Amino acid sequence: MINPENKTILVTGSSKGIGKSIAQAFSIDGYNVFICARNDELLKKTAEEINASGYFALDLTEEGACKKIIDDIVKSAGRLDILVNNAGDYIYSPVEKTEDKDIERLINLNIKVPYLLSKYSVKYMKENKWGRIINIGSISGVVGEANASLYSMTKSAFTGLTKALALELAEYNITVNTVNPGWVQTELAQDAVLQSDFSYEEEIDMIPQKRFIQPDEIAKFVKYLASDDAKGMTAQCISLCAGLSAG
Ligand SMILES: NC(=O)c1ccc[n+]([C@@H]2O[C@H](COP(=O)([O-])OP(=O)(O)OC[C@H]3O[C@@H](n4cnc5c(N)ncnc54)[C@H](OP(=O)(O)O)[C@@H]3O)[C@@H](O)[C@H]2O)c1
Repeated sequence: MINPENKTILVTGSSKGIGKSIAQAFSIDGYNVFICARNDELLKKTAEEINASGYFALDLTEEGACKKIIDDIVKSAGRLDILVNNAGDYIYSPVEKTEDKDIERLINLNIKVPYLLSKYSVKYMKENKWGRIINIGSISGVVGEANASLYSMTKSAFTGLTKALALELAEYNITVNTVNPGWVQTELAQDAVLQSDFSYEEEIDMIPQKRFIQPDEIAKFVKYLASDDAKGMTAQCISLCAGLSAG
């Protein structure tokens, strides 16, 4: 259901994991929540479970997908207030073994898609003189991760995007921030551990707090960044990582 009086949010990559948790947190608070992912069946199930206002089963890297999703949301909800750039992929691969098709794929999904979605959203946020762009980066883009240089490179791009866009949009009450999670308990993290040279127990042992972050911890922080209480917080890249960034 859509209530045009309430704020509208798009959370990308939200059929599961961190994105689903963020979408659910906003839906509970009455926002018009739109979600997207490629797998139609799981997305539909998630949309019903979290009572989403709408869902888009598409690959965001496909030509025209980013413009279409933003335009369609504004057509049905009349507004777009919050963009959460969450969809992203990880690859564990020594640099000399990284395949060209994976370079293209990660640059497209982790960098180009958030840029395009920001580009198409800003017009509507400016009209309302209010907006929030919140990116889900990674601690790997802050401290670097051996054998994940492609992923680290793509996630570090959020630092430049966040600072530059925050400056450009400050006068329109649009804030831009990035959350850099450490290990979060999701399927992506499970697969990443399997791809790596370390066991789950060894990964846990390297985390100062000796635990994975839970998706709802990220969701609660994203909610704070989207709130009016956080109106003064912009251009920030914040690590939520159980201490991993400390070295
Ligand atoms: N989990 C961690 O430890 C961790 C740590 C740091 C940062 N992060 C970042 O947090 C974000 C979410 O991670 P997660 O762990 O929640 O991942 P996840 O459980 O694998 O979920 C990823 C979501 O994105 C969707 N997606 C993937 N590619 C897509 C595409 N091309 N177009 C549209 N949707 C797409 C997936 O659905 P479909 O597969 O059906 O498309 C799914 O809904 C990512 O940007 C990741 O880099 C995660």
